[in-house]
Amino acid sequence: MHDKPGNIVILTGAGISAESGVATFRGPDGLWEGHRVEDVATPEAFARDPRLVQNFYDQRRAALAGVEPNAAHLALARLDREWSGDLLLVTQNVDDLHERAGSRRLLHMHGELRRAFCLSCDERQDSPATLIEGATCAACGASEALRPDIVWFGEMPYHMERIEEALSGADLFVSIGTSGAVYPAAGFVRVAAAHGARTLELNLDPSEGTSFFDEARHGPAGTLVPQWVDSLLG
Ligand code: APR
Repeated sequence: MHDKPGNIVILTGAGISAESGVATFRGPDGLWEGHRVEDVATPEAFARDPRLVQNFYDQRRAALAGVEPNAAHLALARLDREWSGDLLLVTQNVDDLHERAGSRRLLHMHGELRRAFCLSCDERQDSPATLIEGATCAACGASEALRPDIVWFGEMPYHMERIEEALSGADLFVSIGTSGAVYPAAGFVRVAAAHGARTLELNLDPSEGTSFFDEARHGPAGTLVPQWVDSLLG
């Protein structure tokens, strides 16, 4: 275990955006018009009922216009600016609140609401505001071929090689606002610990993996994250 962290890897989940007004997946508001997230976030769901799935993501994309980064996003952006060691922020979130807060060393492992990709030519691109009526691909011109650039259940998360590399070199791994229910992200704490990192959980409630962390602090991210960043930056 290292006393003074040089390399930090941070994992965030829906809980960091909760105080901005973005609903989490598994909380009390974690249903969308009666649908379980598994029923709208799978390739099978998209094949079965594309309009239902496109509508779900169109609405979540539209909701971004009404939310702002909160104190936790801003604190992580400050840490990114002021931390001279290696730092990687890996988010499971598909909202854009980390980048709007100013984080730069950031990977979206589950994709982004503001991006789409073409089922015809595979090209990734900025998403139009809505996809439900069948948007045209900016690259190949195919119509009705764009889907949200979101990693659904059963699909491979993005950037895994870079994430594994960062985890293996981390001195400190911090998990913020995630239930620890979805792999591979839920396993990052054990990968980092196996390579000697100290591990810290900041979450409203104990996550499913809370016992794997060296330390866990429970409370709202908008309070805990600025406190932690202040203590780290002195
Ligand atoms: N501050 C900190 N933590 C919070 C707050 C808050 N204000 N509000 C809620 N939480 C915590 C909850 O206690 C819960 O443990 O955030 C966690 C949110 O868990 P989930 O809803 O399961 O979200 P997440 O872990 O990001 O889900 C992982 O599942 O559906 C998929 O791809 C989707 O990326 C998502 C993945």
